[in-house]
Amino acid sequence: MSECSIRDFKPEDLQRVCEIELSSFSHPYPCQLFLVYHYLFPSLFLVAECGSRVVGYVVGVVENGDKGHLTSIAVDREYRGRGLGKSLIREFEVRIKSSGVFRVYLEVSVRNEVAISLYKKLGYRVVGVLREYYPDREDAYLMLKELE
Ligand SMILES: CC(C)(COP(=O)(O)OP(=O)(O)OC[C@H]1O[C@@H](n2cnc3c(N)ncnc32)[C@H](O)[C@@H]1OP(=O)(O)O)[C@@H](O)C(=O)NCCC(=O)NCCS
Repeated sequence: MSECSIRDFKPEDLQRVCEIELSSFSHPYPCQLFLVYHYLFPSLFLVAECGSRVVGYVVGVVENGDKGHLTSIAVDREYRGRGLGKSLIREFEVRIKSSGVFRVYLEVSVRNEVAISLYKKLGYRVVGVLREYYPDREDAYLMLKELE
């Protein structure tokens, strides 16, 4: 396996990020939204790169100056289960802390056992249920982590 690293998103990565998004979610974000995220919070949009191939991303924002929101994460199917999801979130947390934010929240489908397991392993805990949060009316867990 080629060596992988986590780095800042660049606009040239957009096509790969959108491919990963489309193949990972039944209700994907519109591709152009990623450019808006990059424009607003460039340090909070990271990609995982293996060799010269972008194989995953994490993206988030800061809300009200003090609340981190991890808005999306996905890893290319072929590269899952190798620790890239964890590495992306760990680096995301380093970045958000350095901007003075010490709380991160996210939403996850109550049926997404893999992602829930990943978040719990990294110290996120369920703090609420958002009824019919997704377009298909699936419920979501609201999860929160206080960063040390
Ligand atoms: C969720 C996702 C990003 C995880 O990425 P990944 O690179 O495979 O994750 P990692 O290899 O870092 O695994 C981290 C943890 O996730 C969980 N996990 C990963 N693959 C799993 C599997 N097949 N079954 C159960 N748990 C699994 C485990 O807790 C794992 O920890 P461990 O390695 O100590 O057992 C990836 O599965 C994905 O892109 N899914 C589709 C998009 C999605 O659902 N995103 C989350 C939206 S809220």
